Amino acid sequence: MKITVIGAGYVGLVTAACFADLGNQVLCAKKTSKNLDKLNKGISHIYEPGLSEILKTNIEKGRIEFTNDIKRAIDFSDIIFICVGTPQSDSGKADLSQVEDVARQIAENLDNYKLIVEKSTVPVNTHQWVKKTIKRYSKDNIEFDVSSNPEFLREGTGVYDFNNPDRIVVGVESEKASTIFKELYRSFTEKGSTLLITTPAAAELIKHASNSFLAMKISYINMIAELCEKVGIDINMIADGIGYDQRIGRDFLNSGIGYGGSCFPKDVKAFIKIAEDHGLDFGLLKETEKINADMRKRFLEKIENVLWMNKDKNITIWGLAFKKGTDDIREAPAIDIVRELNKTGANLRLYDPQARENFQKLFLENKNIKYFSDKYEALKDSDALLIITEWEEFKKIDLNKVKGLMRLPIIIDGRNIYEPEVMNGFEYYSIGREKFEKSEIMK
Ligand code: UDX
Repeated sequence: MKITVIGAGYVGLVTAACFADLGNQVLCAKKTSKNLDKLNKGISHIYEPGLSEILKTNIEKGRIEFTNDIKRAIDFSDIIFICVGTPQSDSGKADLSQVEDVARQIAENLDNYKLIVEKSTVPVNTHQWVKKTIKRYSKDNIEFDVSSNPEFLREGTGVYDFNNPDRIVVGVESEKASTIFKELYRSFTEKGSTLLITTPAAAELIKHASNSFLAMKISYINMIAELCEKVGIDINMIADGIGYDQRIGRDFLNSGIGYGGSCFPKDVKAFIKIAEDHGLDFGLLKETEKINADMRKRFLEKIENVLWMNKDKNITIWGLAFKKGTDDIREAPAIDIVRELNKTGANLRLYDPQARENFQKLFLENKNIKYFSDKYEALKDSDALLIITEWEEFKKIDLNKVKGLMRLPIIIDGRNIYEPEVMNGFEYYSIGREKFEKSEIMK
C-alpha cells in the first residue's frame, strides 16, 4: 500500500521505515530540509538500534523517500499518518499546534478521499478538532476519515516493538477506515497479533492510560524501595515476589532513580490536565509524579550521606541518556543530578556511550565538567562512581580494573545494575537494597 507519514522524529521515522520494510511504498515528509539528504541516503539522525539498516535497505529498494514538500506528501497517498510532536506546554497540556498545522495543510490539499491517522500522542477527542479543522479549511464536501492509531514504541527498541506489538489499537468512525486498517495490518494479524478496533476517542485515551499506568508502576515499586531501605530488604525480592503474579507482571518493576524520557513525564502531566479539564482530580498520577521527582532528591541525599562534602571531589557519572539504548536525554535523571552536583564544586567526569553529544548541549565542558569517550578513563582518580543509566556495557565491567583506577572505591548505583554480594572491596550503595545509616560509614 502507499503510505504518507508526516513527521520524521522518533515515531515518524520508525513508523515510516518499518512500514516500508513490510513492502509498502512510503513517502515521509518533514518540515525542514535539515537531515533530508542524510535520510535519503539511509542515514538516521536518531540513534535507534536497527533503524539505519532498514532505512538504507529500503532507500536502495526505492520503497521509502523523504521530502519537505508536504503538498506532494499529501497527494502521494490516501493514508496519511500524523506523527508530529505534541510537546508539553507550560500549563502541562499537550501543545497540539503542529497537529493543527498538518490538519489545515491536509484540508487545503484535499481533493479525494483520505484516511487521516493520528499516531502522535494526543488528548482524548483531539480527532474531533482535526475533523473540524479539515472541514473548515477544505473546499467542497470531499469525503475523509479521521482515525487514531497510537504507537507503543519504546526508545531503544522501537523497530522491535513496531514488528512485535502486544496489540495494535485503531480508532475508526467508518467501515471504510476499518477495512483500510485491516489491509494495512494484515501481515500482523496473520501472525496472530491482536488488532483492536475501537472508536477514535477510546484509542486516544488508551494511549494515555497505558503510559500513565506504566509510569505509576515504576513509582509504585520505587515507593516500596524507600521502605525496603529502612527495613533492610532487597527491593528486587519484592519485585520478583509480586511480579510472578500474572496479573501484576515483573516488567516495569525495576526500582531505581526513576523514569525520564519524552513520554512518561509529558503523558502523565497531560493526562492529569485532561482529567482536570473534565472536572476530575487524578491524585494517583500526581503522586506518581511526586514519587518520581523525589527519587532524584533521595539520590542526591544518598550522595551527600556517602561523600559528606563534594567540593573538589572527582565524581564520575556513567550514563546520561534517560534509559539504555538511546541517545535521548529528555527529562533524563542525569540532568538533575549533574545540575545539582555542579553547584557543590565537585569535579564531574561524565561518560555515556551515545548521549554525550546531546548532553553537552546542556552542560558545556568546563573546569568542573569533563566528558570522556572511555568509561575507564572517566574513572581515573575518582572518589565516587554514580550509575545513572542502565547501559548493558556497565553490567560487564572489570571490577578489579575499576578499583585500581579509583581513588576511593565508592559506587552509588542509581539503577541497581550490580548485585551487592559481588561488590567486595567497594563501598556499594543502591536503591532499596540496604539500610543506610551514617554510623556504618564512620566506623
Ligand atoms: C515509553 C513506553 O514504554 C512506550 O510504550 C511508549 O510508546 C513511550 O513511552 P520509553 O519512554 O521510550 O517508552 O522507554 P521505557 O522503556 O518505557 O522507559 C521509560 C523510563 O522508565 C526510562 O527512564 C527507564 O529508565 C524507566 N524505567 C523503566 C524504570 O525506571 N524502571 C522500569 O522498570 C522500566
